[in-house]
Amino acid sequence: MRILGIETSCDETGVAIYDSEKGLLADALYSQIDLHAEYGGVVPELASRDHAHRLLPLIKEVMSESNTEIADIDAIAYTAGPGLIGALMVGSSVAKSMAMVWDIPALGVHHMEGHLLAPMLEEHPPEFPFVALLVSGGHTQLVEVKGIGQYRLLGESVDDAAGEAFDKAAKMMGLSYPGGPAIAKLANQGRRGRFKFPRPMVNRPGLDFSFSGLKTFTRNTIADCTDEHDELLEQDKADIALAFEEAVVDTLTIKCKRALKETGHKNLVIAGGVSANQQLRKGLEAMLKKEGGGNLHYARPEFCTDNGAMIAFAGCQRLLAGQREGLEIICTPRWPMEQLPAI
Ligand code: KG4
Ligand code: ZN
Repeated sequence: MRILGIETSCDETGVAIYDSEKGLLADALYSQIDLHAEYGGVVPELASRDHAHRLLPLIKEVMSESNTEIADIDAIAYTAGPGLIGALMVGSSVAKSMAMVWDIPALGVHHMEGHLLAPMLEEHPPEFPFVALLVSGGHTQLVEVKGIGQYRLLGESVDDAAGEAFDKAAKMMGLSYPGGPAIAKLANQGRRGRFKFPRPMVNRPGLDFSFSGLKTFTRNTIADCTDEHDELLEQDKADIALAFEEAVVDTLTIKCKRALKETGHKNLVIAGGVSANQQLRKGLEAMLKKEGGGNLHYARPEFCTDNGAMIAFAGCQRLLAGQREGLEIICTPRWPMEQLPAI
């Protein structure tokens, strides 16, 4: 089965062709980062307009790159939610229109399920069951995964998502958007031990997260270091970036360890934009080694952040299982992953 995958939930237009027998044949991405950078975050209306602009040329690109003719495409998978309503509408409308004209099915995919399954596109795919840490710009969730669509939410952020915390802290320091990669890069120049940031909610039982206190702590630390000309020294910035990154990594690692203990699973999957963070990967690898040698699975960096390949792959699994929907335009900006049917 050959699938055209379309991702337009936020600020990246992602398109891919996935073949259930041959694997991933092509993927293309247009990132709107430059468009939103001057605003320090995503402007929804600009995002929708740009998706409308980019989508058809990207579809042409992946089809030509993979030598795929219209007749070769068996179905279309598109992101139906969660995400920005206008942005989702673009992907959903294009997917449904093409499906109608080509007389093939189109299926709405849950964006976070796309992230969650993205590591399965890699050489050593994770095997069920496992615990998944989903860390993106909009979500921070720990999920017990027993199979596709068999998800039990173990814990989630009660306020900001981990990626959102990175983005907000970066903005306070005058760094570029998105903040995660900018903070990670700057943290390489930081001096360990200069600042000690809190590890929120680790002393309380449970698997929920909270990152808004860390944001306040960052703001106060920046204020303490800022001189009378409102300037922050580059070294101070780097030290703050390192302390911030360490606090997020430590917090996520402590909760992952707890989730593995509570569920009895050995293996951990990390997915979403923040799973590209090298220090997080290192911290989790070290924890797993110490705790009995479970494996850590993640996608290649470009499939940690939003992309079309993960949507094509997730959609393919569901389409192969026979899942279908009508021709109506479906957008589900708020959509708990636990509502998905098991396959
Ligand atoms: O999954 P994603 O592309 O979009 C959403 O579904 O939200 O995640 C984007 C988030 C942003 O908040 C970005 O700052 C963060 O992932 N991110 C990172 C890194 N790369 C991206 N955070 C920390 N370290 C990174 N290397
Ligand atoms: Zn995402």
